[in-house]
Amino acid sequence: MSPGSPRGLEGVGSGSPGDPLAVHVALGERAYDVLIGPGLLGQAAELINARLGAPNCAIVTDANVARHHLRPLERGLAALGRHAGTIVLAAGEETKSFAALASLCERLLTMGLERGGLVIALGGGVIGDLAGLAASLVRRGIRLVQVPTTLLAQVDSSVGGKTGINTPQGKNLVGTFHQPSLVLADISLLATLPVRELRAGYVEAAKYGLLGDAAFFGWLEQNWQAVFAHQPQALANLVATSVRGKAAIVARDETETGERMLLNLGHTFGHALEAWAGYSQRLLHGEAVAIGICQAFRLSQELGLLDAASVERVTAHLRAVGLPTRIADIPGDAKPDAASLLKMMHQDKKVRDGRLTLILIRGIGQAFVSRDVVTQTVEAFLTRQIGAACT
Ligand SMILES: NC(=O)c1ccc[n+]([C@@H]2O[C@H](COP(=O)([O-])OP(=O)(O)OC[C@H]3O[C@@H](n4cnc5c(N)ncnc54)[C@H](O)[C@@H]3O)[C@@H](O)[C@H]2O)c1
Repeated sequence: MSPGSPRGLEGVGSGSPGDPLAVHVALGERAYDVLIGPGLLGQAAELINARLGAPNCAIVTDANVARHHLRPLERGLAALGRHAGTIVLAAGEETKSFAALASLCERLLTMGLERGGLVIALGGGVIGDLAGLAASLVRRGIRLVQVPTTLLAQVDSSVGGKTGINTPQGKNLVGTFHQPSLVLADISLLATLPVRELRAGYVEAAKYGLLGDAAFFGWLEQNWQAVFAHQPQALANLVATSVRGKAAIVARDETETGERMLLNLGHTFGHALEAWAGYSQRLLHGEAVAIGICQAFRLSQELGLLDAASVERVTAHLRAVGLPTRIADIPGDAKPDAASLLKMMHQDKKVRDGRLTLILIRGIGQAFVSRDVVTQTVEAFLTRQIGAACT
């Protein structure tokens, strides 16, 4: 393995030095490519035209992304006569709602998008999840191209086909599986992303190392500063290795009946914290997942599965990057109570017969799915974690 080339990247490139990296998501008739590199947005219209048969395209984006990145995409589509229209939504998690979904579907229909048309989701995970859900519903399903603009969306949410909205009962409890036909991960778009959002996305990349690729986690420990300095090779390596990790799992378990659950490392705890914080700027999704990952590691240690040094190594790395690792790190005086967190954890889609499904760890890169931890053990663990936060 050459320095700067994490395990899993070899063989990803498509040829000449300037070409984007290409990761194939092998899903039979729903297979698609994820192209990764700088400057893809300017070529997006041509790439879509060449690969997907010149469809009429509606762009869905949010106000922040539109301000920075909408023009080149609109210009490219207009030049080819393929721009059906643009829908700019409010930025933020609140947009993943039934109300926004209904209005979006109606606007896509009003635009005259036909069955052969295509929705381009230009944005982070919020836009990707919402526009993906709308694309899966309008005219019983039209094609979708993801152009992820946050690190979280590039390494995770734009790949794998999960779509969704939030409800008062919990996060992403209403949604579909609708694979994109193409994903264009333009790493240059990350230049305008606030560093807090970059950190939140970095967690999901670290997750792939922690759940199944210890060498990648080692690479992150060595190279995270280059990633945060927007060094193109480091960013492309990080995105491509993460996407390869996700693509391999999704290809084996598209609808999450088994192995794909591993991708939820840190998310059962994280989603509960996020719901408790009201899906607000107080705690971003990735920040909640960072705390959730540390909790999964700590619980695994308490259960005798894992040594303390591994817990310390992971926690130290996330802390060095500037991420929260404990409930105590959540800003504000109010702290959650174990019973309400547990209640929210039971809304998790992986709950079976009232029993929590947890992703636990035997070592860095060795996560597994467990249904063996009883609720009382989790509640006692949470009570101790919250107690530590209040002292
Ligand atoms: N479908 C999946 O498999 C999956 C996986 C993980 C997370 N998710 C979902 O993703 C969502 C979180 O996604 P996110 O973190 O990308 O949040 P987001 O979409 O809300 O984006 C974060 C913020 O960054 C802004 N932004 C986006 N790109 C920008 C850019 N290039 N420059 C400047 N600002 C930019 C957005 O306007 C927003 O304010 C959650 O709803 C989560 O449930 C889905």
